Amino acid sequence: MGTEAHSTVKYSTDELMEVVDLFQVSAAAQARIRDILEAEATPPDAGNFFRYYNPRSKVEQFERLVESTVSVKHALAVNSGTSALIAALVAAGVGPGDEVIVPAYTFFASVSAVVVAKAIPVIVEIDETLTLDPAAVEAAITPRTKAIMTVHMLGLPSKMDELLAVARKHDLLLIEDTAQAFGGTYKGKYLGTIGDVGCVSLDAYKVIGTGEGGLVLTDNDWLHTRAQSYHDTAACWRPDRYARERQAGELFCGENYRMPELCAAVGLAQLRRLDWVNTRTRAAWTRIREETRLPACATWVAANDDKGVCGYTLGILFETAGQAARAVQAKIGLGGLAAGDTRGVRNWHVYWCWDHIMEKKSATAEGCPFTCPHVTRLPEYHPDMCPTTRDIISRLVTLGIGVAMTDEAAAARAARLTADLAARF
Ligand SMILES: Cc1ncc(COP(=O)(O)O)c(C=O)c1O
Repeated sequence: MGTEAHSTVKYSTDELMEVVDLFQVSAAAQARIRDILEAEATPPDAGNFFRYYNPRSKVEQFERLVESTVSVKHALAVNSGTSALIAALVAAGVGPGDEVIVPAYTFFASVSAVVVAKAIPVIVEIDETLTLDPAAVEAAITPRTKAIMTVHMLGLPSKMDELLAVARKHDLLLIEDTAQAFGGTYKGKYLGTIGDVGCVSLDAYKVIGTGEGGLVLTDNDWLHTRAQSYHDTAACWRPDRYARERQAGELFCGENYRMPELCAAVGLAQLRRLDWVNTRTRAAWTRIREETRLPACATWVAANDDKGVCGYTLGILFETAGQAARAVQAKIGLGGLAAGDTRGVRNWHVYWCWDHIMEKKSATAEGCPFTCPHVTRLPEYHPDMCPTTRDIISRLVTLGIGVAMTDEAAAARAARLTADLAARF
């Protein structure tokens, strides 16, 4: 033990081979790759994994490529979609006593980010497009409302024109939680670049991924500067680490949400196929919708922009929850949140399962932020507060679409689905 020869450079072939192993390369191929790598002299400064001292920073390259790909002025790479949301909220000055409108149907992280930013989430109804209902948003605005966070759920664009109009009318910030819809578009513009700030998740289950990761997208210089400050620790690399604050509000303590270089390296390759992934799943999504005959008691979930969806999930709305449950139980490849819930499974995508909010959970005994002295009005959280959303979700079933689904496979899927549904409804 302890007799192996170790490299004197900090990151060498051994580290690279561990990365290769992640890709499940065969032992024989790994041996060949190692031979090739060892034939090369590793420069002593190889593998500089700190973006701000690395002249070849992958994070830097990734951010610039995101900017040109989705046409946005600033992309800030962070270590998760959740941290992107928190950084965006903090950048916008959201904090104690502020209210942020969130949809009743979203992954819990959207709401959690608001609480972590010390603000109060106001949970608002969705409509049958599975995204925020602009009329319900407007009705929920109070003098304490600071931002609207819309979520492009299941890759479906929100009603951006209407939401932007409400946000502008009431002078509110519009945040797009684009965790589930990176590369999707609305009227030709990339989701996440239409509101004031967009937040993307690059976790393992998203359209493209870096394992864990996220992005803050904005055209607003000040929001970007402040998100950058928060995504760093108090050292702040803005743009010179040792510079004094250039403008009040620029320098404050942060959390270190920096994206690691290793993740950004994967992100660069993933990003090059973003449009290809969405084009393929969107084509299958469209074809299945065109060719499947739904029973009279069901309709497709209407998208706010058919041409802009990320097509990895197709939604069907039945007239009743009972029909939806029957469709899921029929084991014909359809999933459903309603059925999951009735089996007693906690589903973190629906507000009535968000115990953290329903029961106003806090990490500290003081109950912050719900008991914060700046809070003048606390919403009454309860499982029936958004009956429309509960009804819609109880009637929703979904069909997954993978990037490997060819045109022929989509046509075959449509034929099978038509037959399966006809046999049961
Ligand atoms: C709508 C939504 N927002 C935020 C997040 C959080 O992203 P991450 O897992 O990268 O923190 C997710 C992740 O599933 C999500 O679906």
